[in-house]
Parts: sequence; structure tokens; C-alpha cells
Amino acid sequence: MRKIKDYYFKKAKQDKYPARSVYKLEEIDNKCRLIKKDIKILDIGCSPGSWSQFMLKKIGRGSILGIDINNSIRIEDTRFTFMPGNIFDIESARIQKYIQAFDLITSDAAPNTTGDSFIDSQKSLNIVKRVFQIARDTLKPGGSVVAKVFQGEDLKAFVDGLKEDFSRVILFKPKSSRKESREIFLIAITRRGER
Ligand SMILES: C[S@@+](CC[C@H](N)C(=O)[O-])C[C@H]1O[C@@H](n2cnc3c(N)ncnc32)[C@H](O)[C@@H]1O
Repeated sequence: MRKIKDYYFKKAKQDKYPARSVYKLEEIDNKCRLIKKDIKILDIGCSPGSWSQFMLKKIGRGSILGIDINNSIRIEDTRFTFMPGNIFDIESARIQKYIQAFDLITSDAAPNTTGDSFIDSQKSLNIVKRVFQIARDTLKPGGSVVAKVFQGEDLKAFVDGLKEDFSRVILFKPKSSRKESREIFLIAITRRGER
């Protein structure tokens, strides 16, 4: 396990990314090809910034709004805007002031863990439910969501419920995600509705 951590940790340093989590997003993108030229992205839980940095390389004249409680993000790029704050306090209307509607919403946000897997998975599911509330208000028809979530007993029912609103909903565990971690990525592709 240590070996895997060291490999992605070192690779992130070499590639000049502030976090190894970038390789999870890279694997997701290799699988689903959701990061396209000229799109508008909302990146929730964006600090320290490796996902946003990675996506900026791919979106051409697109743009990214990043949100995080932690403002340790340093991205100097006119296509990137940072909104400090907690997604449970930020109303969708405030997000829409910056960018009317998004093509893609990503969330790598995770709760502070307690060590109790039931409590931690519930806290993580609450974050994901908030991410999808924001998506309901700000995601374009045809748009997609990628969100980290901890596996837990209520996840399946939530995933099944999303199938009404999205053409395809999958759960994906990237190789670069540590095996012992309960994290998995919920990928909801192509929001239904008139474009
Ligand atoms: C694993 S880090 C994200 C790493 C990032 N994707 C990257 O590649 O650099 C998770 C982030 O989620 C943020 N976060 C957790 N809960 C949040 C919330 N309720 N609102 C906003 N940000 C939150 C944390 O502050 C933390 O910076």
C-alpha cells in the first residue's frame, strides 16, 4: 500500500500538482471523457487545486469556479475563480451570479473523519446530497457530475434515485484510490432535459 502512496505522491511532485488526488480524476476522465474544450465547470472542494489545475489544461477557453472552505489554493489563471466558503452555507443563487450554468460539476469534498465508518459515510453522503442539490439548480441539461463519496449502506438508494435525472449513473473506484479507503466516485452522466 505504502508503495502505491509513494508512487502517486512522487508523481504528483514531479508533475507539479499539489495533491496526488489528480490521478483519480485523470482515470475518471480516461474512462468517461467529461472534461471537454470550452466548458464551464464548478469544482467543489477544490483546494489545494490539483483537479482544477488538471482541468484548466483541457478546457481551452472554458472556465472554472472553485469552492472550498480552505483557501490554500493558488491558481493564477484568468479562467479560474475561487469562492471561499462552505457549500452548506452558499446558496445556488450566489454561485449562479458568477456563472449561469455549468456543463460539469466535480466534487472531491470529504468530511473530517471520525473513524466510525457509519458516521463518516453518512457525513459524506450528506455532502454528496448537497452537491446534487446544487446540480439541480445550476447544471445544464446534458451536463454531468463527478462526486467523491464514502461507501455506506444508504448509497445504493441514493444512486438509484439519480437514474431518473441522468442517462447513466456509475460508481467507479480508480486504481490510484487507496484500496483501504472507502471512497468511491459517483459519476452521473448527461442530465436529462431539453438542451
Ligand atoms: C481531498 S481535498 C480536495 C483535493 C482537490 N480535489 C485537489 O485535487 O487539490 C477535499 C477538500 O474538500 C473541502 N471541503 C470539505 N467539505 C467542504 C464543504 N462543506 N464545503 C466546501 N469545501 C469542503 C476541504 O476543505 C478540502 O480542501
